[in-house]
Amino acid sequence: MTKEELIKGLNEDLAAELGTVIRYNYQAGKSFGVIGIELREMFEEEIKDELGHASFLTDIIIDLGGEPTTTPKEFEKPDTIKEMLELNIKMELEDVENYKKHAEWAEQLDMIELKMKLEDMAADEAGHAREMRRIVKGL
Ligand SMILES: [Fe+2]
Ligand SMILES: [Fe+2]
Repeated sequence: MTKEELIKGLNEDLAAELGTVIRYNYQAGKSFGVIGIELREMFEEEIKDELGHASFLTDIIIDLGGEPTTTPKEFEKPDTIKEMLELNIKMELEDVENYKKHAEWAEQLDMIELKMKLEDMAADEAGHAREMRRIVKGL
């Protein structure tokens, strides 16, 4: 494990976060009806979390001597609210796995703050997935 590999991994995480902010903003606009009102509130809250993650990753990449990406990860645009939420659950869980992996890398490089912060972010994403699973269950 090298610092360069860690920077590359964190930049992939950053691209995912930027993509999530754009995806949730887009999906909020596409959420109609009574469920849409609830979803827009949820997306608003989660966008704040994802922006916090993106800003932490940007700082840490710069502190490590890297160049933070400004290019968001691409995402699909399903038609229904159920499909949108299922896509989000899948992508949140991918983020959980990536943060767990990169937390291990940080530990190997003896970066305790980064390790714990990445684990914390994995927990945030797992919480987002759980919240959306509960909504899908009620659809
Ligand atoms: Fe996030
Ligand atoms: Fe999330």
